[in-house]
Amino acid sequence: MIIDHLEEPLPGSSLLPTPSGDAYTDPEIFGTEQTEIFEKMWNCVLRADALPAPGHWQKATIGREEIIVVHTRKAGIQAYFNVCAHRGMRVCTAESGKNKTLQCGYHAWTYALEGDLVAAPNLTSMPDVDRKEYGLKPVHVRQWLGYVWVCLAEEPPDFEQEVLGEVRTRFGEVESIDNYGIENLKLGETKTYDVAANWKLIIENFMECYHCATIHPELTEVIPEFADGLASQRKNGEVHGSNFGEEIQGFTVDGTASGVAELPAIAPDQDRKYFAITVKPQVFINTVPDHVIIHRTFPVSESRTVVECDWLFLPEVVEHVQAGELDISKSVELFHRVNQQDFQACELTQPSMSSAAYASGGALVPSEHHIQEFHSWWYQRLGLQAPLPAASGSEKVA
Ligand code: FES
Ligand SMILES: [Fe+2]
Repeated sequence: MIIDHLEEPLPGSSLLPTPSGDAYTDPEIFGTEQTEIFEKMWNCVLRADALPAPGHWQKATIGREEIIVVHTRKAGIQAYFNVCAHRGMRVCTAESGKNKTLQCGYHAWTYALEGDLVAAPNLTSMPDVDRKEYGLKPVHVRQWLGYVWVCLAEEPPDFEQEVLGEVRTRFGEVESIDNYGIENLKLGETKTYDVAANWKLIIENFMECYHCATIHPELTEVIPEFADGLASQRKNGEVHGSNFGEEIQGFTVDGTASGVAELPAIAPDQDRKYFAITVKPQVFINTVPDHVIIHRTFPVSESRTVVECDWLFLPEVVEHVQAGELDISKSVELFHRVNQQDFQACELTQPSMSSAAYASGGALVPSEHHIQEFHSWWYQRLGLQAPLPAASGSEKVA
């Protein structure tokens, strides 16, 4: 079923059920999500250029674990559990830093950037201690799109299949995302949103545009087809973006020209269009002709999620901005408003998830039916029985 054909009534019920309210409020369910989803899948944690030289490190939290991502001397960027092999104290206590070695502040066990134990009081009198075995416990690391992705599982799922495969399904061929050259873009702006809502409400919101006409006046001005509530990114099996309005000159808060150079390798059918995909469980990728917006979500509790949003531009654009010769604020402001509008809706939804009136859940209208694919995936990851088989559908966005 293609969402563009929804003028006709569907056979059967127009409404599909959502998970029950406690899926969004139960700390036990959230704990299972941490172990079965976030601690087993690939997570996009930070931009690789946030660690520009050996010695730079930054912490991140994935599921219940804290990790240190480090630019090493000999092995590029690596990541470790932030747990001292001696008696378990946090090795790094600041959020980020630059050091020649990583030293635990309790008994001064000291680790090379590559993770091995290199020094400790009286270590020479304990020659049997294996420096690798008592090093920092490593985490699987990949780099893609200029970001560091990590997986905490002992046996990580295949990155090509799970991450690139997801992009292939949602975006069309992986090459079409390659046209944007995301790995070579630079950070023009980043914003952190501390959202008082369950992470699934944020994903569900991102996947549908039934709400666009109500809460996104600026976005629907730029992309008028969103005002119809249809967020299809696939049509007749082929990927298509969402078109800018005829009068629109740029993906900016007022639809005027951005003044920003287009990304040089985008295809003609990627011009004047917006594409959006979700890479489960925590990344949203949005592309427009002159910049890319990437969201990384970090669930903190059943009712709180931190969202990091990056606006990425060509390096020369960022240089001009830094020199005060170019202003990208009109471009940034559009999706910043979209984010604020979306997250406010999610925050006003979260308290109702524990209401008696929502105990058995809510409903998905036809233009939201594809969200049931996400729900089916979620039931499956948690080993729960989905109430109904998944509907097929289309993609979306904002
Ligand atoms: S706990 Fe880290 S050195 Fe003792
Ligand atoms: Fe939205």
